[in-house]
Amino acid sequence: MAGSTWDRHDLLGLYGLSAPDLLSLLDQADEFRHGLDSKGNGEHPLSGCIVANLFFEDSTRTRMSFTVAARRLGADVIDLAGAGSSVSKGESLIDTALTIEAMGVDVLVVRSSAAGAADLIAGVVSCSVINAGDGRHEHPTQGLLDALTVRQRLKSLEGRQLAIVGDIAGSRVARSATHAFTTLGADVHLIGPPTLVPTSFTQIAAGPGRVFVGHDLDQALGDLDGIMMLRVQFERGTKIAPDYRQHYALTSERAACLPEGAIVIHPGPMNRGVELDSEVADGSRSVIRDQVTNGVAVRMAVLSTLLNAPALA
Ligand code: CP
Repeated sequence: MAGSTWDRHDLLGLYGLSAPDLLSLLDQADEFRHGLDSKGNGEHPLSGCIVANLFFEDSTRTRMSFTVAARRLGADVIDLAGAGSSVSKGESLIDTALTIEAMGVDVLVVRSSAAGAADLIAGVVSCSVINAGDGRHEHPTQGLLDALTVRQRLKSLEGRQLAIVGDIAGSRVARSATHAFTTLGADVHLIGPPTLVPTSFTQIAAGPGRVFVGHDLDQALGDLDGIMMLRVQFERGTKIAPDYRQHYALTSERAACLPEGAIVIHPGPMNRGVELDSEVADGSRSVIRDQVTNGVAVRMAVLSTLLNAPALA
């Protein structure tokens, strides 16, 4: 992609990435997605590389899709989960990362409940580090796959009106998606109860897209091109009022108020019947399964870029 100055060794967040950098990754991911759909991608540009998944917090989508992506590129994958590792004996995150690196791995994929964990590790190891979600901070590959899915469905993000609804304060997904969406020209409407969507969040706009903070979902619905519903992050201590669903769930009735062609996005895992109804999650507007497939394509693009894999023919 013209204008991309990609020279990063790690992917720790989407904050600060330029539009050409993002588009370069999305364009590559589109090609990988095409290969996945046509059962192609038969080449193995990362043959001989080792990808280590270090997951100190639970995951289904991210962990499995990094594994699928790495294997499709021909890399070997090793896995370490917090439970069952020597972390339980008091070994630090840094010592754990240095130990795995010393085995000759090429990239560490790190998931942690601690914001800044991937940055901390990247500061001490020589191999590449990918942030697979750190506390409330960032989840860059999720933001990329969300942007890819929006771009595929809506053709472009420029000028699009996208809402992110729910527990914004507890969500690393909201931060990464907002960076990606606004950098690529979409306006982002962060909607939820005042306790979960502080007005200070308008400052996370990267531009040229703008960020608006609002608390009235019903008022916003008719103007949206896409709506991302977030799970309430109970595991991070978020508390919600008993009438949360009444105001902030995407029910079938609310989904019917969206303009024709508007899409429903959810990063998963979802709590059906809490933040969105099953009929909406499985309905024609939903792109949730597509996001999962795009997750493999995006992670193939990120691994290829960081490990300087030769372009596929
Ligand atoms: N979206 C996401 O990060 O899901 P997992 O926690 O299952 O990886």
